[in-house]
Amino acid sequence: MKAVVYEKYGPPDVLQLKGIAKPAPKDNEVLVKVHATTVTAGDWRMRKADPFLARLFNGLFNPRRVKILGFELAGVVEEAGKAVTLYKKGDPVFAFCGFKFGAYAEYKCLPENDLIALKPSNMTFEEAATVPVGGLTALRFLKKAGVKAGDHVLIYGASGSVGTFAVQLAVHRGAQVTAVCSTANLDLVRSLGASTVVDYTREDLSKITARFDVVLDAVGKASARACKSLLKPAGKYVSVRGAAKASADDLSTLKDLIEAGKLRTVIDRVYTLEQVPEAHAYVEQFRKRGNVVVRV
Ligand SMILES: NC(=O)c1ccc[n+]([C@@H]2O[C@H](COP(=O)([O-])OP(=O)(O)OC[C@H]3O[C@@H](n4cnc5c(N)ncnc54)[C@H](OP(=O)(O)O)[C@@H]3O)[C@@H](O)[C@H]2O)c1
Repeated sequence: MKAVVYEKYGPPDVLQLKGIAKPAPKDNEVLVKVHATTVTAGDWRMRKADPFLARLFNGLFNPRRVKILGFELAGVVEEAGKAVTLYKKGDPVFAFCGFKFGAYAEYKCLPENDLIALKPSNMTFEEAATVPVGGLTALRFLKKAGVKAGDHVLIYGASGSVGTFAVQLAVHRGAQVTAVCSTANLDLVRSLGASTVVDYTREDLSKITARFDVVLDAVGKASARACKSLLKPAGKYVSVRGAAKASADDLSTLKDLIEAGKLRTVIDRVYTLEQVPEAHAYVEQFRKRGNVVVRV
C-alpha cells in the first residue's frame, strides 16, 4: 500500500510517499480502507518534534515508535478480525487514531473498541475525517468546564479546528458564546452561532468588560492570567494546553449531533496523499480555518 512515512524529524519534506506492506487485522481489529485523513497541529508537532518532549514519546534522535502520522480518518471496513462484533466488511466508519497515528496510509488497522464509530450518514468521508480530533477535543474541554444552558462562554481561538467545533457545541448546550478570532474569521464564527465576536487584532482581551462562566482557550495562545481575569467569581478556565480524556461514546455523541443537523465541519483546504508535505507546511502556519483534509 501507499503511505506517507517519516524516518527523521524535520521540515515537511521529511514526509515521503512510499510503498509498504499492507497491514493485516488482529482478531480484535478492523482493517479500514482509508478514504480521507487530515493534517492537525498534533501531526506537524510530532513531525518536527516540537515540543522537544515529543522525542521522549517517539524516539530521542529519530522517529521510532510512530513512522506514519495521521491522527484521524474516515473510510470503509475492508476486513474484520475473527473476534470483531461491532463492525463488518463494508461499514463506513470514522476514527480517532490518537497517539498511535497511522492514518496517512491507504489502510489502517484499529481495535474495534478504540475511538471508532459509524460515519455520520450525512457527511462525506472528507468531512467525517475532520471530526474526531477537533470535535472530541472541543467536547471534552466543554464537559471538563461543565458548560450548561444559560452560561456565558468565551472561546479564544474560535476559528481553528477545536475552536469551530467548540463554538457549535457550546451553543448546542444552550450557552451564549463570545468568540475571539482575527478579522478574516469573524463572519465564519458568527455563522457557527457565536452571538458576540471579538477581533483580537483590534481589541485586547483586557478591554473586554463582560465576565464569563467559562473561558476556553481553544488554541493555547492566550495568557492564563488574561483569561482568568475575564471569569465570574465561580467561573472556570480551561485550555487545550491541558488534558481531557475522550471515549467512544463521545464520538457517537458527535455523530448523533451531526446527523441531527446540529454540528457541521469547516473545511479550509483539501490535499492529496502526495501533497501531504505541502499540507503540513500550510497547517504549521497556524492560520487554517477549521480543518485541512487529505484525500487518500
Ligand atoms: N489537549 C489536547 O488534547 C489537544 C487536542 C487537540 C489539539 N490540541 C492543541 O490545540 C491547539 C489548537 O488545535 P487546532 O487543531 O484547533 O489548531 P488550528 O486549527 O491549527 O488553529 C488555527 C487557528 O488558530 C487561530 N490562531 C492562531 N494564532 C492565534 C492567536 N494568537 N490568537 C487567537 N487565535 C489564533 C487562527 O485563527 P486566526 O487566523 O483568526 O488568528 C486559526 O484559525 C493546538 O496547539 C493543538 O496542539 C490539544
